[in-house]
This record gives sequence, structure tokens and C-alpha cells, in this order.
Amino acid sequence: MRLILLGPPGAGKGTQASGIVKKYNIPHISTGDIFRKNIKEGTELGTKAKEFIDKGLLVPDEIVVAIVKDRLTEDDCKKGFLLDGFPRTVAQADALDIELKKLSYNLDKVINIEVSKDELVKRAVGRRICKECGATYHVLFNPPKKEGICDICGGELYQRADDNEQTVSKRIEEYQNKTQPLINYYEKQDKIVNIDGKQDIDKVYSDIVNALGGE
Ligand code: AP5
Ligand code: MG
Ligand code: ZN
Repeated sequence: MRLILLGPPGAGKGTQASGIVKKYNIPHISTGDIFRKNIKEGTELGTKAKEFIDKGLLVPDEIVVAIVKDRLTEDDCKKGFLLDGFPRTVAQADALDIELKKLSYNLDKVINIEVSKDELVKRAVGRRICKECGATYHVLFNPPKKEGICDICGGELYQRADDNEQTVSKRIEEYQNKTQPLINYYEKQDKIVNIDGKQDIDKVYSDIVNALGGE
């Protein structure tokens, strides 16, 4: 299965990705996660990306495209992949099309998770992530059993630096200006599946699996 997860910041891409990659046994490629890992490790890429991420702006296309191109040539992508948060601009989508053609990979579906703006801000601001295993929680909508502690591994939960109200609003604006046009882009390729992301997490998941033809 070769999939793209499209949707505004806080729509639930990461949350849904974890179930989808398990079900279809495919690698989860999140450009946001790749950047955060590099920031944590203090790499040159991390330093460059941080300038943009902290302001809620998209990282320049050439940087993101180079990373994804590299990642797609790795062996594990032969069995399929889930791209989470890439592409985010028409230029990135064009570059991806070219790369997929080169690799003789056909895209199956683009899952578009739809959520209203008010809800997005609430979701992002209340999000907490495990330092150890990356599991995602929400203080109200998906709380851990014990406050501040991961249910899965016992790791400490933290809040992302870009999950404050001001940066989230900027991220949503970037999404509307630069990423939303991709819905039409993939509609033209007949790949779009629209999913109502306002439902609870399990219902969103089962709608996605149904749309992919699974049970
Ligand atoms: P990235 O990390 O991809 O952030 P994003 O797109 O803003 O999306 P999020 O990760 O914030 O949200 P999500 O949809 O994954 O939601 P989640 O499942 O966590 O990118 C970060 C930055 O990196 C960008 O701003 C940009 O600067 C840069 N970047 C990355 N890719 C790039 C690219 N291709 N080009 C250029 N720049 C790039 O859920 C959110 C919260 O809601 C959680 O707390 C969760 O528990 C809760 N929740 C989820 N589903 C539900 C539900 N159904 N009901 C109630 N609560 C829910
Ligand atoms: Mg995410
Ligand atoms: Zn954990």
C-alpha cells in the first residue's frame, strides 16, 4: 500500500498513521518527525529546519524533497509506505510524482482528513507526546492513564515547541495557502479519499480502513 496522509496541523495524521502502518506493515514517513529528530540531535539539517518550524512556516521545498527522495530509495519502501505531512506544496507534489515514476511506484490513495479550524487549535494546544516512543496523547480528548506518563512505555510526556496558539494559527494559515491546493491536485489524479476527522479516533480509523478497501 502506498499512501499519503493529507490534512491541516492537528487533524490527526500522526494518530491515524500509527494504526495504518501496523495494519499494512509499511514504514511511516513523517517529515515533521524527521525534522524533530534532527533538531534533538543538533544536526545541520535540524538547525536549518528549526528556523522555520518555530515560526510555524514550511521548511523550503528543496530541503524537504531531498530528504523524502532519499528515504523512498531505502529497501523497506519496497513493501509500500505512508507519507505523513508530505507533500505540502504543489512543487513537492510534482517532485514526488517524478520520483515515484523513477522508482516505478504507483500511489494508491491520498487520505484527506478534514477538521474545522477551531477544533485544530484545541487539538494541537492540548497535545502531549512521549519522549521515549513518540506516542501521541491529548490532555482532554485522549489522556494517558497517569498524567504526564506514557501508557505504553512509561516515558515522560512533553509538549511540542510549535504547539502554542500563535504558532498553530500560523501553521494553519500556511496549510490554507500552500497545502490545500493539493486536494484538487490529487482529485485530478482520482486518488483523494475524504475522511471526516471530527469523529472520535476509532471511527476515523475505521472510515480510513474502509476507504482503503479493508475490513
Ligand atoms: P508536522 O509535525 O507534520 O506537523 P503538522 O502538519 O502541523 O501536523 P501535526 O503533527 O501537528 O498534527 P497531526 O495531524 O499529526 O495530528 P495528531 O495526530 O498529532 O510538521 C511540523 C513542522 O515541520 C511544520 O509546521 C513545518 O514547519 C515542517 N514540515 C513538516 N513537513 C513539511 C513539508 N512537507 N514541507 C515543509 N515543511 C514541513 O493529533 C493532534 C492532537 O489531537 C493529539 O493530541 C491527538 O491526541 C488529538 N486527536 C487526534 N485525533 C483526534 C480525534 N479524532 N478526536 C479528538 N482528538 C484527536
Ligand atoms: Mg503529526
Ligand atoms: Zn511511550
